[in-house]
Amino acid sequence: MPTWIQLVFLACGVCFILALKGLSGPKNARNGNLLGAAAAVVACLVPFFWTDLHLKHVPLIIAAIVVGTIGGVYGARTVQMTQMPQMVALFNGVGGGAASLVALLELHDVVETAGDAPWFNLAATAFTIAVGSISFAGSIVTFAKLQELMTSRPVVFPGLPVAFGGSLVAALVLAGLLVNDPRMWVGVVLGLVGLLIGLLLVLPVGGADVPIVISLLNAFTGLTVAASGYVLSNVLLLVAGTLVGASGTFLTLLMARAMGRSVTNILFGALKGGSTLGAGEASDRPVRSVNPEDAAIMLGYADRVIIVPGYGLAVAQAQHSLRELVDVLGEKGVQVDYAIHPVAGRMPGHMNVLLAEAQVPYEQLREMDHINGDFKDADVVLVVGANDVVNPAAKTTPGAPIYGMPILNADEARQIIFMKRSMRPGFAGIENELLFDEKTSLLFGDAKDSMGKLLNAVKAL
Ligand code: TAP
Repeated sequence: MPTWIQLVFLACGVCFILALKGLSGPKNARNGNLLGAAAAVVACLVPFFWTDLHLKHVPLIIAAIVVGTIGGVYGARTVQMTQMPQMVALFNGVGGGAASLVALLELHDVVETAGDAPWFNLAATAFTIAVGSISFAGSIVTFAKLQELMTSRPVVFPGLPVAFGGSLVAALVLAGLLVNDPRMWVGVVLGLVGLLIGLLLVLPVGGADVPIVISLLNAFTGLTVAASGYVLSNVLLLVAGTLVGASGTFLTLLMARAMGRSVTNILFGALKGGSTLGAGEASDRPVRSVNPEDAAIMLGYADRVIIVPGYGLAVAQAQHSLRELVDVLGEKGVQVDYAIHPVAGRMPGHMNVLLAEAQVPYEQLREMDHINGDFKDADVVLVVGANDVVNPAAKTTPGAPIYGMPILNADEARQIIFMKRSMRPGFAGIENELLFDEKTSLLFGDAKDSMGKLLNAVKAL
């Protein structure tokens, strides 16, 4: 590899690391994202200027890049904020599938030239084929679950653990065969077994846990890409893949911790009958409902208000009127903060991105650990389209799907107003006792609609 390419790849690798650093906070996330994307574009262009490579099928490669770019840009521009996890799943799955195909092509070259590839290269090839296929099939199932193309409930059948264990053993045997005596058919069957493992791994996972599995599969794809970087002797792929693998692993563990679950429980809970996540029944127990005018009086005459945003805020796209409401309350001398639960919404950082879009100043966003002590001093907590993240069952009900998940202490406030459309539960599918508490009032309706009425009522005070 010529020195200039090595230097360009080094610069791209540094940009990827700086991009990750930027993505770790909302202030620099956009710049970090752009930096990473720019480095990826440069890395893709380099082979065209690398004359010794004698690139073949250039028109086909360019056509593939054009199709991929159009699909990617169109998808990213049109996707709804609430559909982001399934888009990440799709992009991630395609990455894993691509790495697997590249490894099969490398294997083809080894077989055709009767090359004497070192055993470690063959092991990396087998790993890439198998794990890339797992990531592809698993990501397609997560996409189908989140896009509601199939049930989001855990799918289990009697022989599943045996089938899963059997396919893992088959994959190990095939990988051993491939390292010992590289043959194309072994690689293809290994890829097919990888697809089966991916299916069996994700089918038993319940809807609310799917975003964590997406993050885990993302880590798998990263490791696959790193291994393919080794096979292709491409340092940049190795660096990029390792970064994705490491950050995906951390993200998975952080999300699991924020939900009070272990990764093994998420993946295999349904096999033991422990995971029951999915849609639940609406309750018909009596609750106290409130109209926008009365809710406005509660908010307008409070000293301290805490807002708890959740998934429903994103669905209703009520973030702009919420920000306006907070501004008006601020002008009236009310101290208002937003309490951000780490898994509010459907993906990491969902609420931060949503509220940043509505120009909410970062200083008003308070992380769970920082604000949890303040709820007892709050006159009113306004819960907008959130449910599970304030559900006390996480503390009080062993056996509940969210038991052990740290929650926002909304129950400690003097009064609580929930904005939601019905008595349906949140994503975990369980009833929330806080809705029936005597200090709780429910402002029923679509969050955007209700927020507009609430805003007008507060302005009129
Ligand atoms: P949820 O518990 O899902 O509650 C959302 C609430 O929004 C529901 O009660 C729903 O009630 C209401 N809602 C929906 N559409 C609405 C609309 N248009 N207007 C008003 N209200 C609306 O959300 P949460 O509290 O944000 O909790 C997040 C859940 O997702 C947790 O269970 C968490 O574990 C899970 N999860 C999150 C992540 C990440 S990383 N964020 C990852 C995996 C899992 P109605 O239907 O009655 O309106």
